[in-house]
Amino acid sequence: MSTIALLHTTIRGDEKLILQAAGKRNINVKLIDAREEILDPYRYEADFDLVLERCVSTVKGMHATRFYESLGITVVNSSRVASICEDKFLTSLTLFRQKVPTVEFAMVFSLEQAKQAIKLMGGFPVVIKPPLGSWGRLLTKVNDMDALEGVIEHKEVLGSPQQKAFYIQKYIKKPERDIRVFVIAGETICAIYRTSPHWITNTARGGKATNCPVTKELAKIAKQASDAVGGGILAMDIFEMRDGLAINEINHTMEFKNSEAPTGVSISGAIVDYCLKTLKNI
Ligand SMILES: Nc1ncnc2c1ncn2[C@@H]1O[C@H](COP(=O)(O)OP(=O)(O)OP(=O)(O)O)[C@@H](O)[C@H]1O
Ligand SMILES: [Mg+2]
Repeated sequence: MSTIALLHTTIRGDEKLILQAAGKRNINVKLIDAREEILDPYRYEADFDLVLERCVSTVKGMHATRFYESLGITVVNSSRVASICEDKFLTSLTLFRQKVPTVEFAMVFSLEQAKQAIKLMGGFPVVIKPPLGSWGRLLTKVNDMDALEGVIEHKEVLGSPQQKAFYIQKYIKKPERDIRVFVIAGETICAIYRTSPHWITNTARGGKATNCPVTKELAKIAKQASDAVGGGILAMDIFEMRDGLAINEINHTMEFKNSEAPTGVSISGAIVDYCLKTLKNI
């Protein structure tokens, strides 16, 4: 019987749901705490057949994924998918290249270039984000030139080298909500609206989750985006624009525990089933 390794750091409610779903299916699961691993190819003995990467830490998850793949072990999601999705700039570039509707964006490295880029984009407001980041942290809506100068100076003076790359997106006027779509192997299994009076609608920041019907249009853009980044298990943030849907960003180690109740879909079960299907094809 095959064994699935659940690679984790902190075990969240999401990982507990995955473990319960695996238990229901009588699957061997080995818990691996990435923080206790020694990723040493000289001596590492793998007694599992597939790794489900569920680290809270993107950095640890990525190193470990590359390590297991180098040993010939399949990791869900693959390092290829993860490396695109962990980086908002690379995600945007990939979607743009594959003609998947996305939020207009640019990357600049100085205030002068930021001013020009924003002008070309149609002016303020814009959103500046760390290319690598989550939970809505350090997202800044910049409404005017004064704010832009302040934000960029702070990043330039106080930031790490990573923070000196300014990923700028057009600010999208949303109907007090965005859509979070759960996509496995290109198929949308369910979606939620995240509603908040605040412009940042993440549930981690207090946004309320309710079921969002999976329309043909939603399933279509999700499939296109999944194909563009390489498939696997993905959660996508989608905006309702005046002229249709557009992808904001894509997450490769998604949090979903607050979405099973409103959608009535066992996302954890679908994750485990996808791992089993992947195992069969190894
Ligand atoms: N360009 C934008 N225009 C309008 N609202 C935005 C824009 N970008 C982000 N937001 C709002 O902020 C939220 C968080 O943005 P985003 O998903 O890019 O950040 P994040 O930190 O990666 O979040 P997470 O990883 O938790 O999904 C979005 O769900 C949306 O509500
Ligand atoms: Mg997001």
